[in-house]
Amino acid sequence: MDTPRKKYIVANWKMNFTTGEASLYLDKLSKRIQPSRKVQVVLAPSTISLQPLSLQINRRQFKLSAQNFYWREYGAYTGEVALSQIRGFVDYAIVGHSERRYVFNESEEDIAQKVAAAIRSNITPILCIGETALDRKEGETAAAIYSQLTSGLHQVSKEDISKVIIAYEPVWAISSNKNAKPAKPIDIIEAERIIRKHIAKLYGKEAAEEISVLYGGSVNKDTAPAYLQLEGIDGLLIGNASLIADQFCAIVEIAKGV
Ligand code: PGA
Repeated sequence: MDTPRKKYIVANWKMNFTTGEASLYLDKLSKRIQPSRKVQVVLAPSTISLQPLSLQINRRQFKLSAQNFYWREYGAYTGEVALSQIRGFVDYAIVGHSERRYVFNESEEDIAQKVAAAIRSNITPILCIGETALDRKEGETAAAIYSQLTSGLHQVSKEDISKVIIAYEPVWAISSNKNAKPAKPIDIIEAERIIRKHIAKLYGKEAAEEISVLYGGSVNKDTAPAYLQLEGIDGLLIGNASLIADQFCAIVEIAKGV
């Protein structure tokens, strides 16, 4: 692969931090993380904090991401937030996170609609895919990846595929799951190859080489170096460790050094 792709370090704060806490935490991070052309740092706070943080951030230093949204433009959808309401605040949106899929029963069709809606709004969707522990045990890892990629991307044209980021997040490796254990680099490389092979089948070889593939699941500053050195892995999606400034800043520094 000769095209150097940018590294992404994405912080998924999940349902943590009040707006005040998020603002103080951002202030702390902004003093420690210098803007870099090589590494794009993306912060995904709760929806409620997007607007105030969007006023506070230096966009050369950080970009914001939604953790979730609804794909319709507006209407009678109690409790939901449309992209038209957050468009000015975010550059990225996480779609299909396993907590959305399995805790909130988000359907494959909703996920596909969200990916398409984000692209229409000029927001980069970070499509999360990954097998469950059971899929892996039954030798269905590749099948699970194929199926989530095919359905999640089914509304994305060849022209738009470069606007998507894929995050490989095996469900069994995400720290919120009981008995979570970080994936081994070899598992990640295997999955990354499956992902690019399938993208090549759907969109051609060039698209497969260009698309950014991130890894997520129990990453911390000790495991990050090995992951970031994997050829074909373009960054990390970080939950727990992104809530701790020392951990998160260290991971950003490691990414800059790769
Ligand atoms: P974790 O979360 O780093 O806490 O495992 C990752 C994620 O859920 O995106």
